[in-house]
Amino acid sequence: MNETAREHPPVDIDAATAILRQNDRGGYTIPTDGLYPFQWSWDSAITGLGWISIYEPRAWQEAETMFRGQWDNGTVPHILFHKGAESYFPGPDVWGSGTKIPSSAISQPPVWATTIRFMYEACRDKSLAIENLRALLPKLMAYHEWWYRERDPGNTGLVCSYHPWESGMDNSPAWDKPLGVVPGVSWVYKRRDLGHVDAEQRPHKPEYDRYLYLVDFYKDHGFDSQYIYDNCPYKVIDVGIVSILQRAGTDLIELCRIADYEDGVEELQTELERTRSAISKLWSSERCCFFNHDLITGQALDEVTTATVLPLFGGLADKEQAAAMAALIDEWLGATKVGLSSTHPSSPRYESQRYWRGPVWIHINWMIALGAADYGYSAIARRLQDAARDCVTAAGFWEYFDADTGDGCGGDNFSWTAATALFWLSKPA
Ligand code: DGY
Repeated sequence: MNETAREHPPVDIDAATAILRQNDRGGYTIPTDGLYPFQWSWDSAITGLGWISIYEPRAWQEAETMFRGQWDNGTVPHILFHKGAESYFPGPDVWGSGTKIPSSAISQPPVWATTIRFMYEACRDKSLAIENLRALLPKLMAYHEWWYRERDPGNTGLVCSYHPWESGMDNSPAWDKPLGVVPGVSWVYKRRDLGHVDAEQRPHKPEYDRYLYLVDFYKDHGFDSQYIYDNCPYKVIDVGIVSILQRAGTDLIELCRIADYEDGVEELQTELERTRSAISKLWSSERCCFFNHDLITGQALDEVTTATVLPLFGGLADKEQAAAMAALIDEWLGATKVGLSSTHPSSPRYESQRYWRGPVWIHINWMIALGAADYGYSAIARRLQDAARDCVTAAGFWEYFDADTGDGCGGDNFSWTAATALFWLSKPA
């Protein structure tokens, strides 16, 4: 079980640095060779946190490259296919978005403004930072505006998501019910992920069939936002996205103040306020967390996952809710060997090594630790950090870690694990 009173060896900074250098493809960083050979949005944002302590211009370039792939409507796609690669499926031909830089047609948790604010605070060359901020701020603002305009056209205060891949937590048990009613494709395809990673650590085929149906659905309907909003067979409120968007919005306002940029700030403040008022609808006083929500059935998705405590990170919980979530996390940490598992181990759907159904993800543990510290739960923040450091020092810089054994899972030499180690695990809580 997670211990507190023992030595936690330091992370290997040189090894973490070498991983980012090895995954650098010239202006953008791939998550890991083979399994993920392109630029993924939230991976790239987190990776910037690692670059900032290695070489500041390279950190800013990471963001600049990603936002070069921004769509005219403001969205930032979850994958930019800068170059061809046979080692990944589905590629740009399946997505069919026809953008100048070939891309997917969904987004990912919008953590950019948060990581950019951390980059700004950590950097030494503030004039380089301001120069980059001035170029990035209109793009970041357009991205946040896209979320509210296209994903919450009714101004409910809670943006929606159309694909489990958009949550970044692909096969979380939280999505089992809403994804279960999506038809599967009948065309034949070859998964490439299983050529890199043990099938026990990846999603099952029926899930992939449905993921691909959704990809076809967007393409077949010309990526028409209104049509997709009205007809997409999968439409959920993802507490992870809502919380990350909220924190990033707050950080974006601060970045605007720093760089003297005013366009859109007032409107963004209104959106943040709306979310603050709406979030209580998702609170479960019985389970002490905020549940994801199926917008098709109108039902709460009552699975306790790491997304359901991310409102701590988003600053969206009141004092009582924060206390209840801190108690939940305290109990949860005691129930696994290492760190906070992506699904609570008491769930019958928990699997300690299968992607988002149980494993420990270091960047999510970082977010929850930050949120816990913000609400004054510094002992919990320290426990999360120690446990995360133990995963990395014992097993290496893996994509995720088996929550029951601490063994590394998924892709090895993984950029966001290395970056989080450089930015977070190499420092005191
Ligand atoms: C994958 O291919 O596993 C990704 O999570 C989709 O972005």
